[in-house]
Amino acid sequence: MTAPLLEVEDLRVTFGTDDGDVRAVQGLSFTVSEGETLAVVGESGSGKTVAALAIMRLLPRYARIEGSIRFRGTSLLDLDDDGMRGLQGDDLAMVFQDPMTALNPVITVGDQIVEAIRTHRDVTEAAARDRAAELLDLVGIPEPRRRLDSYPHEFSGGMRQRAMIAMAISNDPKLLIADEPTTALDVTVQAQVMEVIRRVQEATGTAVMLVTHDLGLVAGTADRIQVMYGGRLFESGDTDTVFYGSRNPYTLGLMASIPSAVGRTAHRLEPIPGSPPSLINLPEGCVFGPRCAFATDACRSEPELRVVDAATGHATRCHRADELPALIAARAAPREAGA
Ligand SMILES: Nc1ncnc2c1ncn2[C@@H]1O[C@H](COP(=O)(O)OP(=O)(O)O)[C@@H](O)[C@H]1O
Ligand SMILES: [Mg+2]
Repeated sequence: MTAPLLEVEDLRVTFGTDDGDVRAVQGLSFTVSEGETLAVVGESGSGKTVAALAIMRLLPRYARIEGSIRFRGTSLLDLDDDGMRGLQGDDLAMVFQDPMTALNPVITVGDQIVEAIRTHRDVTEAAARDRAAELLDLVGIPEPRRRLDSYPHEFSGGMRQRAMIAMAISNDPKLLIADEPTTALDVTVQAQVMEVIRRVQEATGTAVMLVTHDLGLVAGTADRIQVMYGGRLFESGDTDTVFYGSRNPYTLGLMASIPSAVGRTAHRLEPIPGSPPSLINLPEGCVFGPRCAFATDACRSEPELRVVDAATGHATRCHRADELPALIAARAAPREAGA
């Protein structure tokens, strides 16, 4: 087996604030293989963005980062600023939720892509422009040549996100991190942008780490899903395993809030009550315990992340993982009988 592209091991990120330490990421370990699409899913405040920014080394200086992040064998946390700048926008690229904050409003879209290319590649302006037009075409922007001369405000929200993706992939990154790339867009445009990500992944073979609070968005796109809560990994597995064989009450709760058939017919559970914990004062024991419909006395101690199926690597953090299928069946039965 070849080494993974990205190996994150026991990552911990803490922000010291006046109110106390915010433990945004706690003991997070995962890998991304070449060319795969990994979805990182969890409610707002789960530590998804902080984990992504740690990989890109874009966290503010006061963040305390521990653990290890290796990209193609290189330890990113040990790289100096120059070394990291060489990777950012080249082998490692990121797309953010709001393209307006990442695009410069006074420079044409074409010039911004050309600049992104020429920062990392020794090519002529003309060659970079040709490449920029190809990229706009790949992400589905009509009349790409002409659109190179547009300014960001002349694009719709969906087109700007497409342009951002074009810029992010301009140097053929090995890993593209997309953080809530469709959250600011309306539903039909969301689906189109997801389709663009799929197409880009197919055309370029780049690995994608797709960060989103919306589990429903990733079904057709991700190879694997990783669920985060309270800065921790709660479940990870193949997409089908997580959708149809989840062994985690938190994941099941996320699924129940998907407004589609998958969530409702597969599990017949209620959406999760309450809201995520403060990362300054985390509950004792399982951090999801206070919101969990299945919590028992055992959940006063924190469960470890545990592999439940060695063949697929399906792992979950839940004391009751083995009983869950039976517990869910018992809950679903009365409703089915009454229906
Ligand atoms: N720069 C920062 N300083 C202090 N706390 C932060 C900072 N960035 C993020 N946090 C906190 O870290 C936690 C995780 O945030 P984040 O990773 O953005 O969540 P997600 O992306 O899953 O919604 C939140 O409680 C957030 O308030
Ligand atoms: Mg986020």
